Amino acid sequence: MNNDKTCHPETLALHYRIDNSVTRPVATPIYQNSAFSADSPYFYTRKSNPNSVELEGALAILEKAEHVISTTTGMSALNLVLQLLHPGDHLVVNKHIYGCSYKLFQRHAEQYGLKLSLLDLSCEEGQELIPADVAMIILETPTNPFLKTVPIRKIAELAAARNPACLIVVDNTWATPLFQKPLENGAHISLASATKYISGHSDVMGGYIAVNDENLAEELRQTRFYTGAILDPHSAWLLRRSLHTFPLRMREHVRVTARLAEFLQPRPEVAKVYLPEVDGEQLRDYGGILFFQLQPELCRRYSEFARALTLFDTGTGMACVSSMVAQPWSGSHASMTTEEKLAMGLDEGLVRLCFGFEKPEDLIADLERAFTSLTSG
Ligand SMILES: Cc1ncc(COP(=O)(O)O)c(C=O)c1O
Repeated sequence: MNNDKTCHPETLALHYRIDNSVTRPVATPIYQNSAFSADSPYFYTRKSNPNSVELEGALAILEKAEHVISTTTGMSALNLVLQLLHPGDHLVVNKHIYGCSYKLFQRHAEQYGLKLSLLDLSCEEGQELIPADVAMIILETPTNPFLKTVPIRKIAELAAARNPACLIVVDNTWATPLFQKPLENGAHISLASATKYISGHSDVMGGYIAVNDENLAEELRQTRFYTGAILDPHSAWLLRRSLHTFPLRMREHVRVTARLAEFLQPRPEVAKVYLPEVDGEQLRDYGGILFFQLQPELCRRYSEFARALTLFDTGTGMACVSSMVAQPWSGSHASMTTEEKLAMGLDEGLVRLCFGFEKPEDLIADLERAFTSLTSG
């Protein structure tokens, strides 16, 4: 602080600061600034900021990772990882995947001359097709849609036998770092959309990448710095705040989802309920979102069903405090062509339910009313 009383009041007011070396806030405040003094380790918020660093440290503990790199969104985390590839590289993607991720890979492969293969890595036939020149495998487990689980360690071993330098990338958004730690299971990179369960309140966007390898972390940090993909301080602060209740929220998601799955399974309007296989090792628990398939005769009546619900909001939001209903066909996978969606096994009768913290009995009554309106109409 400049105390030179010969300066004008305007100049002194400009330089006035509280003494930051003696403040002791119990929660880290928001560092809503772009620049730091030259002797600060933070330098410039596009490179690093106390709020993103604190969030990254907390996420690293949960992911059991040496390094976490926070990003603006889940998509920007995926995009940063794609920058690790070079023209001619072979990218393998598990065929059940979020629609926008699929589109990003397809566009990136076209633009930068990558080979792109879609395989079903949840089954042996697909696993055997992993090519000899594979450079990177990106997979979700459980998958969006259908919540299929992919054995991370097995995929890592199969890929390493073909190319020891192959990077295994797991999108951990749906399992969350509470229930699945991909790096412990042989993945090189675990990434996620923090917009979902980490935020948990549908009010902030973010993403992150977790790695153990120092060189990989440095490369990703450099790309983030040059492309400006770092999470802003306010979002980082909000996400760090949300992390305090993250395990509590997840436990309630698990409880509500189990109760609702029990209700849905025997319903005559439901052909199948999709939930992941919780093996207790790779995936330790699961909750929050399930899919169900409407009976063939009701397949075209999703909109009526969704309209009849009063406690489930419609739209792309998910993993938050209140429940949501969505149709992957017209929502999360809308950017794919009809042929691409059908090839994934997706049709208009697949429904996604995200459960919030309403009383399960109220959600059940709401669903019961909506089912009855379909069959009595
Ligand atoms: C599995 C998965 N990965 C990545 C994303 C992208 O995350 P974001 O919306 O934060 O960019 C989503 C979004 O729904 C997702 O479901």
